[in-house]
Amino acid sequence: MKLKDRVAIITGSGRGIGRAIAERFAREGAAILLNSRTEKELQQTADAIQQAGGRAAYVVGNVAEASTVEKLVATARKQWGQVDILVNNAGIYGSVKPLTELTAQEWDRILAVNLRSAFLLTRAVLPAMVERRRGVILNISSISGKHAFPFSAAYAASKAGLLALTRTAAAEVGRQGVRVNALCPGPIAGTRMWDELGPALSEKMGISREELEDVVLGSILQGRRQTPEEVAAAAVFLCSDDASAITGQAVNVDGGFVFD
Ligand SMILES: NC(=O)c1ccc[n+]([C@@H]2O[C@H](COP(=O)([O-])OP(=O)(O)OC[C@H]3O[C@@H](n4cnc5c(N)ncnc54)[C@H](OP(=O)(O)O)[C@@H]3O)[C@@H](O)[C@H]2O)c1
Repeated sequence: MKLKDRVAIITGSGRGIGRAIAERFAREGAAILLNSRTEKELQQTADAIQQAGGRAAYVVGNVAEASTVEKLVATARKQWGQVDILVNNAGIYGSVKPLTELTAQEWDRILAVNLRSAFLLTRAVLPAMVERRRGVILNISSISGKHAFPFSAAYAASKAGLLALTRTAAAEVGRQGVRVNALCPGPIAGTRMWDELGPALSEKMGISREELEDVVLGSILQGRRQTPEEVAAAAVFLCSDDASAITGQAVNVDGGFVFD
């Protein structure tokens, strides 16, 4: 087991990539504190983990709000003593539109969920990690934070911001036993985010779903979309001692799409 007896907070873990990471981390021996705004999905994820013999609890709430962040950290400590791993995964894409049509409210909401939340949680868990000289933070960014795609200015800015937060935090605690990294998934199969994004994007680009799929798959060396489980496998590696020499990095899990 790669994460035996670690305690992990994973945001946005009721479905999709976050759920896959939670289930995989639990199988690797970690106790998982789940979070999202939809209790039913959290309950289902917690049940699945417990039925497989793992440990899980959850906190319902908007992770962009300080009160949810405080509750998450307090619950993890009360339940299991400390926080060893933080995965900032919760994210929203927002509407697919040119930046000239984006409202300031939409911009603020996307930045709050995708970036402010990660800052708040990182700030909350780092002091104890530094004191214990042990801890790992993983930010789920996106290839949108590195590459140029249209109609997603706020999303792309939030994901690029996550990469900057990753490097800065890693630089501040690199000599104190704490590692901070990011994963940049490409378009992941079977996630609500991509299921909603695909139709919106094809409509905006004036092409069919099939044509969009051809464009996307044609840009990926593997010629297929990746899965939440493949993102989770990379997350286990980066959060385990196998990655003890890796910090401040952003690893693409995109089947060969973006090359920086
Ligand atoms: N799917 C892709 O193709 C793709 C590609 C690159 C990067 N990513 C990134 O991967 C991460 C996971 O995305 P996904 O594809 O798994 O999407 P998803 O299926 O839509 O899941 C997103 C998760 O985040 C939660 N969430 C959203 N807003 C939240 C908030 N304010 N507070 C707490 N939880 C919140 C959602 O639950 P509630 O709505 O119930 O709160 C859900 O559990 C995101 O950061 C996304 O940007 C995804």
